[in-house]
Amino acid sequence: MTTKRNILVTSALPYANGPIHMGHMVEYIQTDIWVRFQKLKGNTCYYVCADDAHGTPIMLHAEKRGITPEQLIEEISIDHKADFADFLIDFDNYYSTHSAENQTFAESIYLRLKAAGHIVSKTIKQAYDPEKNMFLPDRYVKGECPKCGTKDQYGDNCEACGATYSPTDLKNPVSAVSGATPIEKESEHMFFKLSNFENMLHEWTSNTDNPNGHQTVQTEVSHKLKEWFDVGLMDWDITRDAPYFGFNIPETDNKFFYVWMDAPMGYLASFSNLCDAKGIDFDDYWNPNSKAEVYHFIGKDIINFHTLFWPAVLEGAGYRKPSAVFAHGFLTVNGQKMSKSRGTFIKARTFLDHLNPEYLRYYFAARLNNRIDDLDLNFEDFAQRVNSDLVGKVVNIASRCAGFIVKRFDKTLASEISEPELYNKFVNAGESIAAHYENREYHAAMREIMELADTANQYIDEKEPWVVAKQVNNDKELQNICSTGINLFRVLITYLKPILPATAEKAETFLNCGSLDWEAINTPLSNHSINKFKALMTRVDIDKIDSMIEASKETAATEEDKLVSGPLADDPIRDTIEYDDFAKIDLRIALIANAEHVEKADKLLKLTLDLGGEIRQVFAGIKSAYAPEDLVGKHTVMVANLAPRKMRFGLSEGMVLAAGPGGKDLWILEPQKGALPGMRVK
Ligand code: 2FM
Ligand code: ZN
Repeated sequence: MTTKRNILVTSALPYANGPIHMGHMVEYIQTDIWVRFQKLKGNTCYYVCADDAHGTPIMLHAEKRGITPEQLIEEISIDHKADFADFLIDFDNYYSTHSAENQTFAESIYLRLKAAGHIVSKTIKQAYDPEKNMFLPDRYVKGECPKCGTKDQYGDNCEACGATYSPTDLKNPVSAVSGATPIEKESEHMFFKLSNFENMLHEWTSNTDNPNGHQTVQTEVSHKLKEWFDVGLMDWDITRDAPYFGFNIPETDNKFFYVWMDAPMGYLASFSNLCDAKGIDFDDYWNPNSKAEVYHFIGKDIINFHTLFWPAVLEGAGYRKPSAVFAHGFLTVNGQKMSKSRGTFIKARTFLDHLNPEYLRYYFAARLNNRIDDLDLNFEDFAQRVNSDLVGKVVNIASRCAGFIVKRFDKTLASEISEPELYNKFVNAGESIAAHYENREYHAAMREIMELADTANQYIDEKEPWVVAKQVNNDKELQNICSTGINLFRVLITYLKPILPATAEKAETFLNCGSLDWEAINTPLSNHSINKFKALMTRVDIDKIDSMIEASKETAATEEDKLVSGPLADDPIRDTIEYDDFAKIDLRIALIANAEHVEKADKLLKLTLDLGGEIRQVFAGIKSAYAPEDLVGKHTVMVANLAPRKMRFGLSEGMVLAAGPGGKDLWILEPQKGALPGMRVK
């Protein structure tokens, strides 16, 4: 009997500044699966999280909406909680960093750090908006890059040339809040002396004797850390001046803790709030000698906060440090960065409006490993895997066997397992599947589970219960086959329970077996009465994926706070093609020999195009931008090998090229002088 573990797990706290989207879900699904697995194994495991409620963007967002920050974060908290609940993310507590507990932690930790000599005060110069009377965070100053001159760059780095600098280096800077020219102003700030913890951090990150063999930080992360150590650990500015939405720094006027100071403390605050509600001893988990395990799941963009600042702050304030920090990569959709205009910036709610959350839980599980590579959500692959693995393999086992047991054996399974070897093979696989879960190698766990599902289906195929069912006096055999199938299904659905909690619950009703858990599968169900089988999961409907993407495009278009616009942002460059793909399009110079209105057509002009011998008739949707007489005699470019299209007004034998959004803003292409009709454009 292995001893039960005491574990505390967190996911990064999402900002209370906007909706949860697919990118967020990678982390919450990854963490939730891990926590559910620990619970299924009988360990004590608490999963806490909270909204990250402070900072300038939240303050300005609320102001723009004409509400208080408190109202905004309350509104968002309701949405976040609903999204997580509907994705079956089972937090033991979901709280807010804007809480009394968190304020107490922030103040007491700060005072302890100060008393121990880890806080220093310095006067610094910062960009200041003289109209709005506020200091400007780097992201709120825009101007020309000091290096390459590109306009409209943020105060911290240039998106065009990659240069990094400070806002005071920008040429022609403006405040993104008011449009005013920022001035420089001095202010006294408190700094946390991270370098005081350098030795401890080296030791902590290279510790190799963690419980269950977990590395404190993954190999890729320790490489990143080495770079930071090499540059030298800098003092960390933990102060923001008023106006700011956050906690007041004790013993100061109008100075606030930077949001990243009190955010990780939100882990402690949320847990402490849970402890009060449930009578758990907080110190058991957080005293410096605690034997409990603490794990933070995070994205790769916030590694420095969690592997440098946070452990140093904890150490400095007399708490234990995390057992390990588990970082993951970002999500891409169909191989590209999520994009609002492509409809691949999908909000959690939009997904839920169209598709079953367990599809995504399974798909992510099938793709997730313990490294920090990005993960791609490819919708074709998504539909194919869910349909073939979950519906086609796993659920199918139960549906192939249940009917016979219900109809022919009064719902009762055979009195003993007729294929003990096969059954034991399934149970024995549990050890390696569990190790994969523990190591966050979910893809490997899913592969093993699906291989077992194949084995179970092969067994049924070979035994052909539907044939046996027609044989006289072969009832025992039929009952044995189907009982074995159902028992194998029970083992598989137990292994999948961390991924598919809702389906597992339906399976529990069907199997009439109480709560499925890892230990229980050692004993197969025999002489046991099941319930009628009801469909556990339906296939992914491709149309629903399409409508989800359409809906995402629509919401993106109506969102008022579109930060970037312009042709490329509105209509991004399509996927790369090979030269051969391009060469298939036969583009030719054409002389517009004639152009005329088309009766009863609001948008079309009929063009007669001369390709230097060959005449083509093309109906072009350019009436809103051109009068026929403006076009006659001009040269343009046409697609000459486009299949002819029958239109209401006649045959259209090609297409002319034009740019622009439409209406009056439409411009057909015209070649430089000298190009002759019929010449190929290449
Ligand atoms: O990057 C983010 O979205 C932050 N809100 C994460 C905070 S995690 C923790 F440290 F609070
Ligand atoms: Zn630049």
